[in-house]
Amino acid sequence: MEMTPALFAFVADLVYREAGMVLRPGKEYLVESRLKPVAKETGHATVGSLANALRTGSTSLRTMVVEALTINETSWFRDREPFSALTDTILPDVLARNTTGPLRIWSAACSSGQEPYSIAITLEKALPPGRKYQIMGSDLSEEMLRRSRAGRFNQLEINRGLPATDLVTYFQRAGAEWEVIPRIRQNLSFQRVNLCTTLPPMQKFDVVFLRNVLIYFEPETKRAVLDRIRQVLNPGGWLLLGAAESTVGIDSVFERVPVGRTAIYRAPAQERLKVKEVTQC
Ligand SMILES: C[S@@+](CC[C@H](N)C(=O)[O-])C[C@H]1O[C@@H](n2cnc3c(N)ncnc32)[C@H](O)[C@@H]1O
Repeated sequence: MEMTPALFAFVADLVYREAGMVLRPGKEYLVESRLKPVAKETGHATVGSLANALRTGSTSLRTMVVEALTINETSWFRDREPFSALTDTILPDVLARNTTGPLRIWSAACSSGQEPYSIAITLEKALPPGRKYQIMGSDLSEEMLRRSRAGRFNQLEINRGLPATDLVTYFQRAGAEWEVIPRIRQNLSFQRVNLCTTLPPMQKFDVVFLRNVLIYFEPETKRAVLDRIRQVLNPGGWLLLGAAESTVGIDSVFERVPVGRTAIYRAPAQERLKVKEVTQC
């Protein structure tokens, strides 16, 4: 293995500065195996030579390296319970307060799109007929955004949690793959958002899914990300985290609401704290 401690430390520092993700020693093999294809693609014989180029290199090379090191694991209706909570607890509450406008949901760190499309399918089933909704999916990785926008999934991906009834109702064949039907896709948009930097201007949301991304961040970064999310939530809006994530010990402003075997989080009805913005990870 050519991943020396110094090389690993250099890459880990880059990924931390650019994306807030913490790569701890022990991940040398992962880093090397992910960076070898990048080295090859960019004409470098070794990962070491790629790292040397990074020291003086372009933003696009840094972006390629950081993207190659993101963990994009996802599946349909991941963990199930957040989607039941959306139907049973969140939607009745949001619909009672927002009686006319389109429902707005953000899937932050959406990976290849299974999460925002799972949200769309849930809304298709649960919303009163004619009620409009908008879902924004975002990720750090342009490759994940390209795949999310395409809304196309191979059979292996489909097999990871998509019920057969949803497949026949909300997808159409696209060669060997399956594509989300246009009627659903028109409600989704995708844009690149790095959660570790100041958020771009965006309209407020009723619900934010921020799932399985905080686990890669340090407590300070988690706190800053939660602050930013709160500022783009409507008063009383809802936050859903991954099964291994919580706001406990990080944020005391969100109210923890237990539902089933999980918990969801509610922003204050009125923003109580003025938050000092941290602009970088
Ligand atoms: C494990 S996936 C989670 C996908 C989905 N939310 C789920 O729970 O199935 C984590 C995603 O976070 C993205 N990510 C990592 N760091 C990020 C950052 N600083 N800003 C935005 N997205 C980030 C990665 O590109 C990856 O697609």
